Amino acid sequence: MTPLLELHDLTKAFFGVAAVKGVSLHVNAGETLGLIGQNGAGKSTLMNLVGGVVHPDSGRLLLKGNPYHPRTPADAQQSGIAFIHQELNLFTNLTIAENIFISDFPRGGFPGTFNRAKIKQQTRELLNAVGLDIAPETPLDRISPGERQLVEIARALHQDAALIIFDEPTTSLTARETERLFTIMDQLTAQGKGIIYISHILGDVRKLADRIAVMRDGELVALEAADNFPISRMISLMVGRSIEQLYPPRTSAPTNKSLLEVRGVRTAGIVENISFQLKAGEVLGLFGLMGSGRTELARMIFGMDPFDSGSILVEGEPLHKPSPRASIRSKIAFVTENRREEGLLMSIDIANNISLVSLPEFASNLIQMVDQQQMHEAAQETATILQLKSGDIRQQPVKALSGGNQQKVVIAKWLLSRPSIFIMDEPTRGIDVGAKYEIYSIIDQLAANGSGVLIISSELEELTGMCDRILVMSQGEVVGEFDRAAFNRERILSAAFREHNPEQPVSG
Ligand SMILES: Nc1ncnc2c1ncn2[C@@H]1O[C@H](COP(=O)(O)OP(=O)(O)OP(=O)(O)O)[C@@H](O)[C@H]1O
Ligand SMILES: [Mg+2]
Repeated sequence: MTPLLELHDLTKAFFGVAAVKGVSLHVNAGETLGLIGQNGAGKSTLMNLVGGVVHPDSGRLLLKGNPYHPRTPADAQQSGIAFIHQELNLFTNLTIAENIFISDFPRGGFPGTFNRAKIKQQTRELLNAVGLDIAPETPLDRISPGERQLVEIARALHQDAALIIFDEPTTSLTARETERLFTIMDQLTAQGKGIIYISHILGDVRKLADRIAVMRDGELVALEAADNFPISRMISLMVGRSIEQLYPPRTSAPTNKSLLEVRGVRTAGIVENISFQLKAGEVLGLFGLMGSGRTELARMIFGMDPFDSGSILVEGEPLHKPSPRASIRSKIAFVTENRREEGLLMSIDIANNISLVSLPEFASNLIQMVDQQQMHEAAQETATILQLKSGDIRQQPVKALSGGNQQKVVIAKWLLSRPSIFIMDEPTRGIDVGAKYEIYSIIDQLAANGSGVLIISSELEELTGMCDRILVMSQGEVVGEFDRAAFNRERILSAAFREHNPEQPVSG
């Protein structure tokens, strides 16, 4: 049987640095190929070669046995390849229907002959297929990142591609949306389509893929059937060594000093009467399903969104006019879940991105001149701790980093500000296993040095691995509280899924 897609000895370098080195593999019709590797291993670049986004320096591609050289993404699309990018690729000022039908418009024949009613109807059917109940004429900027991701998938379905590439599609999906995606993927392979699936959630890759390809430093280091591929071996192939421990030991315990106090914070329909304290030296987890109000609460604490009533106190002092600027002055840091949208200046070099929040600290009081050298050294040090895979941080723009390394830049930026209260929303999403460990170690050190860390996560293991205490949110309320000694997966999960019942607060 002729494979659907064949890669032969593909190589691609950026400015003399090889991102993909001599990779050969194939994908069959009707199969899912998993593609894994650390941040910067070359996964997205390899797919960009297939998708016509960049061109190989050497090597060749075959599609259904025929030579295939896509010059542009449109070429790839016309050849039957759909590419769901790690960074979303939609036009936020257009409607859902316009985004899905965008490449059909010019080919519609005579101008003015699009059948708008038909487009609307087809959009509705496609949205239905991905489980979205939203009007086709809704502008993209009105829907959540997860919903946008599903629109992108709907667009791939519309394209009726023979091969669909998913580059970390689940990072902004809720648990239910993720399940929906996996069902769609099953249907696609059953129809004989080929899929390439990239993810850092190795359990998902193992479950979905028929075969799994592992990349390290641009090379293909393994390609094996998923059935007999234990996750521990995937990790050691990705990282180049075995990792015994996913979480570092905690080296300190919380003190009695209250750093942050949230007192009766409420915004109708979003969060209800939230009260808790974060102590110096504490790592506090906030667990809940997406949509439980966790992110909204964090945004209120940081001053990004207003709240109706209640107050927020930092070291016992109420914040009078909460705003991000006031929060930064109070030494609060906030790593948002939409890091790429909220956190980075893509065309600016890495060093300046890292220094952004801390800039005033590097300026001398008298002349407001920034000490470039000192700033650069501090940025470099933070980048090294996070194992940032990059060229010269003063030269390379953030957009030339891999997706996971861009996220590390956001974390580095806030770390450099030496926060006393560090709020992190999904801190390790899209980050590879090796670098996760480094981030956890940093969290432990921050706590050991007397900071308080609030981690929002939908990965319960991450919270039970790192936190002193976990608060559980559901439908805008805190419905449970668990101390480290009483962490229990089943009980925490059942609290998160349960509707709030004030008669029966859950604790442990
Ligand atoms: N446009 C570009 N210019 C310069 N270097 C680039 C460019 N795109 C990627 N690179 C480099 O190529 C290497 C591979 O990056 P790639 O994005 O393929 O990694 P990845 O495996 O997808 O990682 P992640 O899991 O973080 O998404 C990285 O070192 C990256 O900095
Ligand atoms: Mg990538």
